Amino acid sequence: MNLDAIARKLRAEIERHDDRYYALDAPSVPDAEYDRLFRELQAIEAEHPELVTPDSPTRRVGGRALEMFAPVRHAVPMLSIHTETDTGASGAFVFDAGKRRDLGLSENDPAIEYIAELKFDGLAINLRYEDGVLTRAATRGDGETGEDVTGNVCTVREIPLRLRDLPGQRTPPEVLEVRGEIYMKRADFERFNARAQATGEKTLANPRNAAAGSIRQLDAKSAANRPLSFFAYGLGETRGWPMPATHSGILDALREMGLPVCAERAVLRGPQALADFHARVGKRRSELPFDIDGVVYKVNSLALQQKLGFISREPRWAVAHKYPAEEAVTEVLGIDVQVGRTGALTPVARLAPVSVGGVTVTNATLHNEGEVRRKDVRVGDSVVVYRAGDVIPEVMRVLPEKRPPQAAEFVMPPLCPVCGSRVTRGEDEAVARCGGGLYCPAQRKQALIHFASRRAMDIDGLGEKLVDQLVDLDLLRTPAEIYALTLPTLAGLERVAKKSAANLLAAIEHSKQTTLARFIYALGIRNVGETTAKDLARHFGGLDRLSQADETALTLVASVGPVVAQCLRQFFSEPHNLDVIGQLRAAGVNWPENAGETRAEAGALAGKILVLTGTLPTLSRDQAKALIEAAGGKVSGSVSKKTDYVVVGEEAGSKLDKAKELKLNVIDEARLRGLIETTGSGKKE
Ligand code: IVH
Repeated sequence: MNLDAIARKLRAEIERHDDRYYALDAPSVPDAEYDRLFRELQAIEAEHPELVTPDSPTRRVGGRALEMFAPVRHAVPMLSIHTETDTGASGAFVFDAGKRRDLGLSENDPAIEYIAELKFDGLAINLRYEDGVLTRAATRGDGETGEDVTGNVCTVREIPLRLRDLPGQRTPPEVLEVRGEIYMKRADFERFNARAQATGEKTLANPRNAAAGSIRQLDAKSAANRPLSFFAYGLGETRGWPMPATHSGILDALREMGLPVCAERAVLRGPQALADFHARVGKRRSELPFDIDGVVYKVNSLALQQKLGFISREPRWAVAHKYPAEEAVTEVLGIDVQVGRTGALTPVARLAPVSVGGVTVTNATLHNEGEVRRKDVRVGDSVVVYRAGDVIPEVMRVLPEKRPPQAAEFVMPPLCPVCGSRVTRGEDEAVARCGGGLYCPAQRKQALIHFASRRAMDIDGLGEKLVDQLVDLDLLRTPAEIYALTLPTLAGLERVAKKSAANLLAAIEHSKQTTLARFIYALGIRNVGETTAKDLARHFGGLDRLSQADETALTLVASVGPVVAQCLRQFFSEPHNLDVIGQLRAAGVNWPENAGETRAEAGALAGKILVLTGTLPTLSRDQAKALIEAAGGKVSGSVSKKTDYVVVGEEAGSKLDKAKELKLNVIDEARLRGLIETTGSGKKE
């Protein structure tokens, strides 16, 4: 193909993407891919000006106006900013050096003052206020002519319909055009999509398209249903307004007039401060509640801005430095199925390695079978991968035009890929699960880690890595086998010193003395968390009464509803589970039992409210709480007249002062133990 043909092909492709993007708000390729095409065409045209056509997309600033909205001619053109990608810290130095040169500054002149802002990823909008009242809102369009979207913009609650008066200003400005970005917060976007999915409506590709799509939607009522936000970052036409001398002054004034201005902005001197801002924001990018694609540096002084002027359609006093794209296209090499904590099967796309936002991605979650179906991801597909901050990368969508003809639809395997048990799925559950329970090594590992965890049996040192090794070597199958582990076995493992093996054995031994609540929680019964376990222990008082209770008896317990009751029944009717419990007891795991509910009611602290403060000599806060609860008492976080006892330890703070002030009973750990032991219920916790 000759260059002319390549350029024509690129133009056609860019136009097709433009159409999808601007006219339909449904991008067909990620920005990065689009940028590549655009830059390739720009490069060809720069080298060979004779190939440039008058209607080449490179001639335009932005998209073209949709015909559905009335055109609005901008009194002052809406420009774009010179944008560079992936410049790192050096970008700030290059920009600053350029500005110093442009302004004829020498080494001895002071550093230039800049304002650094975020580059919001939404839809640029011009808000025209006349005598303080919003009279028209328009999109950028091609920079000269935009679209009248006043009706839809009026539904954005953050945008004031009337400006507040500035202090000392008698009348509002005759004309004040505020420019900024309409965007959608990530949380609002996710809520919107969840609802759209539930009602079978079209979901939106990303927050930016959600914002653009909402504003350029003909029906203002449905625009109003979409939660949009706004940040002001500049001005258009102004008349009858005493303009501040700096850009930061303008933003402060806009803020005072009631317009949202992003707080993440800074007036800075010199390039190092800009580079620091770039790095700081880059690190925190994923924590921001909205998407940004970079930072913008602007020369702060309007006088200097004027001196610098414009080049083509870009101001010479501003630059945008984009962060690496968080989207990329790559190929699906395979779809694996992973088994999670509760047996949930998660399809994961194995990808041809690709750099997304500066990190090489080789896997992306597909969540569940329904999600794979909805997105119709197949092995061999080219897909758009998205990664925001530290979250697990996701497959956003498939590029259907690149699908190989033989690509087959994904089906969830009928058998667990780890243990071969049957895969089941509840009627209205999205998630398929391995039915193997503790037989499945993947689930077994999770169950063991949970069993040993701090709030369960509290076996210090038996963490994920060790459990992985022990299960993989088939040295550990059930929680009961933890109590059969020996020093030679443990010390023989990789990266386990003899000393830590001995410590682990001591922790295992120590854990045998426990409470019923901890033991129930440690069993890892589905939907039985710590609170439910405590309630069950308190209600039944003994494990046999609990394991034999029917669903009706179970639902008498405070935090137990029909679903939890069913989970409990299922667990205790599985002979394998009863075997393990028997083995645990045989190995010496024990806890004090009592007659049930009445015990707590009759406990030494029944009905009493206690407050803990300071560090107790031997009990941790969790332990003291459990001890008090086991004796029927309640632990409260704050001291009040209703408090019966305040238990104080070392470095007790204001709670002690308050207790003295209210003349409450102040006791120490020994006194607390004494109180409890009067009914003979002292136990390890
Ligand atoms: S200033 C004369 N500041 O980026 C300069 N623009 O190509 C006018 N944008 O579509 C723009 N955040 O909507 C400016 N803090 C910011 C911005 C920002 C996002 C967008 C703007 C425009 C594009 C510039």
